[in-house]
Amino acid sequence: MADLKFDGRVAIVTGAGAGLGKTYALELAKRGAKVVVNDLGGSRDGTGAGQKAADQVVDEIKKAGGEAVPNYDSVATIAGGENIVKTALDNFGKVDILINNAGILRDKSIVKMTEEEWDLVHAVHLKGAFCVTKPAVAAMRENSYGRIVFTTSGAGIFGNFGQTNYGAAKTGLIGLMNVLNLEGAKYNIKCNTLVPVAASRMTEDVMPPEFFEKLKPEFVMPIVLCMVHENNQDAGLILNAGGGWYSRAAIVCAPGITIGDTKREITVEEVWGQWDKIKSLEGAKPLANVSETFAFLTPLLSK
Ligand code: NAI
Repeated sequence: MADLKFDGRVAIVTGAGAGLGKTYALELAKRGAKVVVNDLGGSRDGTGAGQKAADQVVDEIKKAGGEAVPNYDSVATIAGGENIVKTALDNFGKVDILINNAGILRDKSIVKMTEEEWDLVHAVHLKGAFCVTKPAVAAMRENSYGRIVFTTSGAGIFGNFGQTNYGAAKTGLIGLMNVLNLEGAKYNIKCNTLVPVAASRMTEDVMPPEFFEKLKPEFVMPIVLCMVHENNQDAGLILNAGGGWYSRAAIVCAPGITIGDTKREITVEEVWGQWDKIKSLEGAKPLANVSETFAFLTPLLSK
């Protein structure tokens, strides 16, 4: 198989000073991309800031003969997002690839969670993705080309105790991706979402040590580079990756059942009586957009 090269491509990786993001930045640069290494260099809970994390990755890329520039803005504001994109435009003239990866944790069970913990996690993960993606899409439209990755989490799409803030913010990214794929289609902008499992400072106290050693971020990296390569024509995928396991997750819709004819009332008991059929996933499949739900409604609406 031919090498998947990134010559001439300009990539932004947020939170690329450590963990997963660092592996994407290093490999993209190794394969010819010019990379903006964004990281505000804070701690795992989002406190503090520093330039060292991004600088070290840029140094490593340059020592290996690649091209990269650091950026130290937080993704959590529009001003920060615009400056991250401006860093790419000023240094490399365009944006082809955006990997939304920056993240923090503030874990608590819901009754103990403060408003600040909820807001901060949303600011970095969900609003942060908006703040960087908005100016990046504006730049990508200029060249009718873009490949974007959002990073969700199994904690949200499947559930994990103590992470209501994180799970909600992470799952919100799937909605952002779905809508942006419709808006970006005519500009050849394709978005996909990653569900990673990897050893990093974020997971060091939630994974058993024997797993931790085996779940190298480097095993997640290849699927992310496939997602952002020009050969990839798929959009809207939600892909699990960890340790060498790669698979697709999806939001699906089942055909279900119909009751009544839209003219008569439907009782609570009628619905409860069909509960098993309503919750069945038999025949379920992903939908391309919300209009496809009308295929299920049409038999009722045309009565
Ligand atoms: P990490 O903590 O090693 O890396 C995250 C990086 O983001 C850090 O270098 C941090 O400084 C940076 N960052 C934090 N807030 C920022 C902000 N406001 N602006 C710019 N940079 C900021 O964590 P890891 O594991 O590499 O996580 C990467 C992404 O993958 C995160 O979005 C995380 O939620 C997600 N994820 C990771 C999983 C795992 O198993 N490691 C599981 C599911 C999701």
